[in-house]
Amino acid sequence: MTTNFKEVYQKIAALTKINPDELLLRICELLKQEVYHYDWVGFYILDQEKNELVLGPFVGKPTQHTHIAVGKGICGQVAASGQTIVVQDVTQVENYISCGLEVQSEIVVPVSKNGKFIAELDIDSHSPAPFKEEDNEFLAKVCDLLVGCF
Ligand code: SME
Repeated sequence: MTTNFKEVYQKIAALTKINPDELLLRICELLKQEVYHYDWVGFYILDQEKNELVLGPFVGKPTQHTHIAVGKGICGQVAASGQTIVVQDVTQVENYISCGLEVQSEIVVPVSKNGKFIAELDIDSHSPAPFKEEDNEFLAKVCDLLVGCF
């Protein structure tokens, strides 16, 4: 299954005219719809005072993990390091919080403002090892577009 990332990026760029909450939700919808191996797409936003992530707009199966401490799971590790994490096989990592047995892989990409971590884009996939360098580059660009929403 081939994805035209350039076309998806252009659609997302056009959506940046809408209000922030709706924009984030529509981007989740668009990503899930356009990219075959994106099955759950959502944003976690840093609550600096509590040092935890809070679930924002998302699409896919509802999750009980609406609050995640910095450092916990893949999401919490990205919040701690400010670096993207790609997990091609979730059964092979220890510090992982499961959101369902159907999830096989995950990518989490930070959103940073002035060099400081403020939020992240979390994508779960039901496909084994689906993520390529193209995904990293594409999602980093999407996150850069969205800094103003947080
Ligand atoms: N798997 C994540 C938890 C969030 S769910 O994927 C929605 C983690 O390990 O942090």
